[in-house]
Amino acid sequence: MYLGKNRFTITKIVAREILDCRFNPTVQVDVWAGDDVWGRADVPAGRSRGEREAWELRDGDKKVFGGLGVQKAVKNIHEIIAPALIGMDVRDQRNIDLAMIKLDGTPNKKKLGGNATIGVSMAVARAAANACNLPLYRYLNVNAYVLPVPLLNYINGGRLTSNDLDFQEICIFPVGAETFRESMIIGWDVYNALRDILSSKYGKIAVNVGDEGGFAPPIVSIKEAMDHLVKAVKVAGHEKKVQYGFDCAATHFYDAKKKVYKFEGEERTNKDMLAFYKELIKKYPIATMEDPFDEDDIEGFKMATEQLGIQIVGDDFLCTNPKLIRERADYCNALLLKFNQIGTLSETMDAAESAYRHKFGIMVSERSGETEDPILSDVTVGINAGQIKTGATRSERTVKYNRLLEIEHELGDAALYAGRMYTNPF
Ligand code: PGA
Ligand code: ZN
Repeated sequence: MYLGKNRFTITKIVAREILDCRFNPTVQVDVWAGDDVWGRADVPAGRSRGEREAWELRDGDKKVFGGLGVQKAVKNIHEIIAPALIGMDVRDQRNIDLAMIKLDGTPNKKKLGGNATIGVSMAVARAAANACNLPLYRYLNVNAYVLPVPLLNYINGGRLTSNDLDFQEICIFPVGAETFRESMIIGWDVYNALRDILSSKYGKIAVNVGDEGGFAPPIVSIKEAMDHLVKAVKVAGHEKKVQYGFDCAATHFYDAKKKVYKFEGEERTNKDMLAFYKELIKKYPIATMEDPFDEDDIEGFKMATEQLGIQIVGDDFLCTNPKLIRERADYCNALLLKFNQIGTLSETMDAAESAYRHKFGIMVSERSGETEDPILSDVTVGINAGQIKTGATRSERTVKYNRLLEIEHELGDAALYAGRMYTNPF
């Protein structure tokens, strides 16, 4: 029912092209409710993208930003999405998202661009929270109180750097901290110990950072990288509080034609990779592994989930897609949740809900091309997810940690750090 304009009525939507942390263009959206309330959201961009992700609409005009401009997505927001949403109640998130899904009409948001729809969808939620005078996490969930364990990506490889490490992310997972703040203190200690270890072994160049703010040393061997990380944790005195995790991002070292993984200079079958993963788990206290096999290697994922006895996270494998989660629920046991993989907040929430119903863990994740927008942190707490992954240093990463520190402070005694219960915090 439309009762005329009030402070919850969408009155204006303004989009623009901004830059992400790789200096590539991306979409920023402001949604206005009533006359003086508004909410803003920036859209991040992936580099090691899954095949089934929502479509990222780029202009393709090579003369401007090498074809990566997003003026078409901005135009779609102004000319197609805004006229349909103006007059709707900004709190009516699901109908707003459904309206965009209908306007688009394709299975992967190819017409409007997933980068257009997710920008609007998230800015709608922000504007609604602002109109209700609530922080976003509280607007999303009256019972939000879990602070996630951060998976800190301290050694970058794969597509996020120019080194030859095949895994994309080699991380520490401070599950033994008591609070989110303590996880940051542990993170600081380990990061600085690792800097000393890497620079004394490989020289100053080794502590340059990759796209996600972790070090990018000239190492090829995963075990060698792990040995340094384990040593850094030991030097920092946090062995009892820290476990480890990887984003293998194996899709990106898989040769689909030959059906082999091109790993550390050798061609390996999925069984060879599984044996390697078993060795790693035996040697180091690894808690979590993301995309250990190619996004279509169901057999590989099934073996990993049945035999490795750790958290197996689906990123490219699930693409935050509720349908894929249903179809593939037997082959992994945790969801990597990235809003722009699916293209609306409602569908993101559906993916989270579906994951919980399958007794999955949930790790909310950034993209390698991030902005200064910390919306990720509010959604993480808003769904009581036990885990977050947002890289290491650099402001587009620390802004997410800072928002979590702020939320933990705001929640006071009500805050619960997920800790060792990261899969299922309560
Ligand atoms: P992406 O990388 O944002 O480039 O996809 C992050 C990941 O694979 O988890
Ligand atoms: Zn990944």
